[in-house]
Amino acid sequence: MPALHAVQKELGHLDNECIKTLAKSFNISNAEVIDVITYYDDFRLEKEGQYIIKVCQAEACQSLGCRTLLDTLKSHFELDIGQTSNDHSVTLKEVFCLGNCALSPSVMINEDVIGRASSEKILAYLSEKQNISHND
Ligand code: FES
Repeated sequence: MPALHAVQKELGHLDNECIKTLAKSFNISNAEVIDVITYYDDFRLEKEGQYIIKVCQAEACQSLGCRTLLDTLKSHFELDIGQTSNDHSVTLKEVFCLGNCALSPSVMINEDVIGRASSEKILAYLSEKQNISHND
């Protein structure tokens, strides 16, 4: 597990070459490595977006419009749940409770939790982050 985390942190995902190398290093089969990767949600076989947008779909957020929010974001980015944009800027995911129910609907973008989320708020957040990274 630590090796998988370390490789993914370095490369952003675990591709076939990584799987073969890890399997050989630990003297296990490629299938055993893939079993571990696919069992845990934290591991990725494909490169994800620079911004991973997780829209809460649990009960408290449902009561305050998270389904509509997710549909709006899906439409805006032309992505379905779990998909990554072709330019690898955005990955869209659904999650079930971010522990921010009092400020529903909630969305997490990378490490930041955004409460009372709206599509406008999410797009403004991304725009601000992209401006900051362009000015670095
Ligand atoms: S139900 Fe959405 S943050 Fe808890």
